[in-house]
Amino acid sequence: VVLVVDFGAQYAQLIARRVRELHVYSEVVPARDALAFVRSRRPAAVILSGGPASVYAPGAPGLAPEVLEANVPILGICYGAQLMAQQLGGVVEHGGSGEYGRTVIERTDERAHLLPPLRGEAPETVWMSHADAIVAPPEGARVVASSAGAPVAAFEDPARRRFGVQWHPEVSHTPGGMELLGRFLFDVVGLEPRWTSFSIIEQAIAEVRSTVGDGRAICALSGGVDSTVAAALTAEAIGDRLTCVFVDTGLLRSGEAEQVEHLFRSQFDIELIVVDAADRFFDALAGVTDPEAKRKIIGELFIRIFEETAASKTNATHLVQGTLYPDIVESGSDGSATIKSHHNVGGLPDDVAFTIVEPLRRLFKDEVRRIGVELGIPESFVWRQPFPGPGIAVRVLGEVTAERVETVRRADRIVQDELDEAGLSRSLWQAFAVLAPGLRSVGVSGDARTYDAPVIVRAVESEDAMTADWARLPWEVLDRISRRIVNEVPGVNRVVYDVTSKPPGTIEWE
Ligand code: XMP
Repeated sequence: VVLVVDFGAQYAQLIARRVRELHVYSEVVPARDALAFVRSRRPAAVILSGGPASVYAPGAPGLAPEVLEANVPILGICYGAQLMAQQLGGVVEHGGSGEYGRTVIERTDERAHLLPPLRGEAPETVWMSHADAIVAPPEGARVVASSAGAPVAAFEDPARRRFGVQWHPEVSHTPGGMELLGRFLFDVVGLEPRWTSFSIIEQAIAEVRSTVGDGRAICALSGGVDSTVAAALTAEAIGDRLTCVFVDTGLLRSGEAEQVEHLFRSQFDIELIVVDAADRFFDALAGVTDPEAKRKIIGELFIRIFEETAASKTNATHLVQGTLYPDIVESGSDGSATIKSHHNVGGLPDDVAFTIVEPLRRLFKDEVRRIGVELGIPESFVWRQPFPGPGIAVRVLGEVTAERVETVRRADRIVQDELDEAGLSRSLWQAFAVLAPGLRSVGVSGDARTYDAPVIVRAVESEDAMTADWARLPWEVLDRISRRIVNEVPGVNRVVYDVTSKPPGTIEWE
């Protein structure tokens, strides 16, 4: 395993994904847990991430000196490189004007191990984002590149296998970035590219087998790629001791419950129980307006329904969930801030009656899709848009009622149909409608005054849901969506388009 030490969430996950794209397994841990990880897991290499702090800021995350002395190859990136310089006898200068975005670097030493060979005369560009700058490298290291604002843009100490770069090799705006990471992992550390779909599948199956033992498992099926892949992996591991349960919460998109059931039964030889629980969800949500409260209620009711189903129908001892790596990081279970309680992680009550099995908990979405294809799961599952566990409940702002959910469904159907028609669905991470029933505006319909709620249309592009950008949909498509929604959906007299990226927004509205 390659350890990525996290000094500021967003950066670290991206580094871990890049390492895995090079077919090397990597995990992310917050800086304060780095030493424990190094001692217990003996990583083959350590990468220190960037981060928003200055190494001089009070309370800035530090690194246990033992990590640097552990005789493990280390690559520091941005803040990570500055921290190495600061802790290993170099000098970091505080408060310069910094460099942001595309920056030209110059080689100062041709013996560099990590930098790819120079190509032609074109200036070598990298992507930087720093205020402080290293002005003297760690003791014993030599400077191999510099830029206008970073006298030590890269340093190397090959004897002690310590390397630092001020720029971000993990972002796509640094052209030689992947090559640099590859040189570190393969040439310096000597790793082999073994993390492939095949090895992921094998490991996951072995893990499920040993966790479940002779027990029986029940799998929470949502119809999305995650739970479907989790179910398929579990079925490979334990065969017919797996039962899938699909709970129709009444909070799904129009026609979705029927579609998922039909598709699943026709594609898989796994027992499926469908539970119609719409009334229970609406009862439990009556009068509740707070988004976190809604999420917790839905998460808990889900689990209770599984428990009942398991007790009465399957004798299951284990519950399989399609939780992904980013869900775990974003739910704050590893120490980062809680943004939202995803109902399959943070919303879990403490006293669940099952042992939880999460075969995908170490995987990113693109890895799950790849192994889904490898396992022969049909495209309609693999490329399905992500849909949140709490469903339309987090797309009705405020109290959830059956009528409001129906309004969202109708609007959502129009959004999906028009995007399909325009051939845009596959290029979007998600597109959906949100209802703001507490917000009303005056409109005119025919000759009559209306005073109704708006529908918010949201469409985003994203690689992993950690960051997202609003989609630049063609005006004509937005126009058709808007006209159809106000004409066809009762109680809605206005359509607005959400032009907020994540961060600072999130993808869902609640
Ligand atoms: P946010 O709104 O946090 O969403 O930017 C990121 C991605 O996660 C989905 N999402 C969820 N998925 N359970 C899930 O399984 C949840 O509770 C949940 N909340 C949000 C969201 O649709 C987006 O793709």
